[in-house]
Amino acid sequence: MFHTISPAVLSRMAYLEAMDRKDRSDGTTLQKRLRQVPPETGRFVALLAASSPSGGFVEIGTSAGYSALWISLACAMRGCKLTTYEILEEKYRLAKETFQEADVARHVELVHGNALQCMSKIKNIAFCFLDAEKEIYEKCYDAIIPRLVKGGILVADNAISHRESLKQVIDKALADDRADALVVPIGKGELVCRRI
Ligand SMILES: C[S@@+](CC[C@H](N)C(=O)[O-])C[C@H]1O[C@@H](n2cnc3c(N)ncnc32)[C@H](O)[C@@H]1O
Repeated sequence: MFHTISPAVLSRMAYLEAMDRKDRSDGTTLQKRLRQVPPETGRFVALLAASSPSGGFVEIGTSAGYSALWISLACAMRGCKLTTYEILEEKYRLAKETFQEADVARHVELVHGNALQCMSKIKNIAFCFLDAEKEIYEKCYDAIIPRLVKGGILVADNAISHRESLKQVIDKALADDRADALVVPIGKGELVCRRI
């Protein structure tokens, strides 16, 4: 997967990494910033997605599509499609541009809207990456866990960087007998849950 990334994907990843770095240093407001994962988290979620069982791939919180590009590597390998949700119009437009420029449209379906309102339509999830506002994590967790197939994986970002605000949902996941879970110290900290 990582040895055969196309020049179009590599080029868009580099463009978004530069944009994200600039956002973080020039005082761009939180809502406008891309707030994307670091490359090592991208690789980690791609590996987990590639190792998940049969079923759909979902992402909650697209931003400009950087983490989705990493997950699209697993989709290309398995011949499946990621459905990724973005609520903000400006980010949705950037993500659309990302998937066109990187030529991954056949592996990524971008949905403009509130992911939580779309969950009832989704079932048989093999892999989900959750990276949105922290206030909705617990609602997302409650919606995703019952929709995971056996062996399906939920990864939630910021489990260490936002440990305090996510304490309730992390504790819930660690005690939940429907899944095996742990927090992995990579990037901003990833809560990884595997459905039993
Ligand atoms: C941290 S950023 C995602 C970064 C992205 N995963 C990446 O690494 O490239 C969070 C994004 O989630 C979006 N978001 C927040 N709440 C949402 C919701 N309920 N449904 C869909 N998107 C949401 C925000 O607009 C924002 O663009």
